[in-house]
Amino acid sequence: MSECVLQMKKVTKEFPGVKALSDVDFNIYKGECMALIGENGAGKSTLMKVLSGVYPKYEGEIVFRGKKVAFDTPRQANEAGIAIIHQELNMISYMKIYENIFLGREIKTKFGKLDKKAMVQKAKELMDEMEIDLDPNEEVCNLSLAKQQMVEIAKALSMNADIIVMDEPTDALPESDVKNLFRIINGLRGKDIGVVYISHKLGEVFEICDRITVLRDGQFIAENKVEELDEDALIKLMVGRTLEEQFPHVEYGESETVFEVKNLSNQYIHDVSFSAKKGEIIGVSGLVGAGRTELAKTIYGAYRAESGQIFLNGKEIKSNSPKEAISNGIYYISEDRKGDGLILDLDIKSNITISCIEKLTKNTIIQKKKELEVCGGYRDKLNIKTPSIHQKIKNLSGGNQQKVAIAKGLITDPQVLLIDEPTRGVDVGAKKEIYDLINLFKMQGKTIILISSEMPEILGMSDKVLVMHEGTIKGEVDRKDATGEVILELIFAKRG
Ligand SMILES: Nc1ncnc2c1ncn2[C@@H]1O[C@H](COP(=O)(O)OP(=O)(O)OP(=O)(O)O)[C@@H](O)[C@H]1O
Ligand SMILES: [Mg+2]
Repeated sequence: MSECVLQMKKVTKEFPGVKALSDVDFNIYKGECMALIGENGAGKSTLMKVLSGVYPKYEGEIVFRGKKVAFDTPRQANEAGIAIIHQELNMISYMKIYENIFLGREIKTKFGKLDKKAMVQKAKELMDEMEIDLDPNEEVCNLSLAKQQMVEIAKALSMNADIIVMDEPTDALPESDVKNLFRIINGLRGKDIGVVYISHKLGEVFEICDRITVLRDGQFIAENKVEELDEDALIKLMVGRTLEEQFPHVEYGESETVFEVKNLSNQYIHDVSFSAKKGEIIGVSGLVGAGRTELAKTIYGAYRAESGQIFLNGKEIKSNSPKEAISNGIYYISEDRKGDGLILDLDIKSNITISCIEKLTKNTIIQKKKELEVCGGYRDKLNIKTPSIHQKIKNLSGGNQQKVAIAKGLITDPQVLLIDEPTRGVDVGAKKEIYDLINLFKMQGKTIILISSEMPEILGMSDKVLVMHEGTIKGEVDRKDATGEVILELIFAKRG
């Protein structure tokens, strides 16, 4: 039986109007990977922020290596040996890798000057130890998300952490980087470090974790060894019920082509053509970097098309900006909800209505009552967990932020909806709600272009699948012929 290095006992944390945690118990074991699982808003990130000194005010206690501890700042937690890699990575992008690793803990020479050489050297050693090939002098803004994460892990190692918390680390990582991360986690286990792993990807949890703790609505539900559970049992613990079919496919029936893209090209995409019908979901599959997001952004007017045409209802449309695209009836819900989706410092209501404020305005006056009604409606439909639509976006859990991003798109009532990785960071129950909403939209006769890296999502939802690779369309597959193998074959097929 592994030794329990850290225990959180009866932890309660309240925010104004929200009891995020009530009497939660949580254990971390030496050299083990503990999964922390629960629906969006269950309290996972909050529990880890209590642990790591981000929220110094809470009830309950934390016992670390046999002693009661309390951290007033993240720095104190770091010094004690607890490091956290937050859901929102927080590195300073214009600084170099080694500067980020030693930020606030710079190594100095005996004359009190920054010892750049020693820091670069130490950073290099850390990365060698993790078997990753990065130059410590590289600026963080040039790194992929996966590499930034590796740097965060190197930083945690540099603190000699006994406990490393990873909050949804694979949320945006391609498959190959996930494997690499698992290799590194295994290395951490070998060094007797306790790892906490938060993820909505249950398959990964069973692959890499030793034990699972489940939270639901801010309460402790269970702690089990992985071999004691299977996926269905885990989902039941998470959502308190079994889920019906995950991908409820609906048929719109016969309909005409309404949307056509012809020979669209620019620096990102080459000669892309496809067409879509009313009430049709077109899935766009491909590897990360295949040009799927770039295609969507070109259709949306965020990138310029150098050549090619777009037709809606038989008429050619030109969208030189997202604003024009929206007025043409096209909307794009971004995969990057924080970068170009939501404004974190504004409340839910303002974020939802920002893209369609004209529709809620009469004689230049915003119709407040209508605005509240409409926003409240979406909160209910999408089950956005929040005490009020006046809550700031930054105070919502990751998955609930994603739901707001979707509401913001639906409210513009587009005829063509481009939706990019809609269920990233979203729990199993909420995924189903998002799929139901997409289907509802489809049954209203809208056209949906669904970009997703999750094969089951593509296969489950789409009427037709476009397979993209290196900026071109490699093939089109009808729903009835679409399987994972067919799609992968097309991705890897030689051009000819
Ligand atoms: N700073 C805050 N102010 C107010 N409410 C907050 C704050 N942080 C979190 N909450 C609320 O506390 C609850 C728990 O949120 P938390 O972020 O811990 O969820 P989570 O389990 O990490 O979810 P997700 O899987 O979506 O990331 C949510 O209802 C959230 O809205
Ligand atoms: Mg979270």
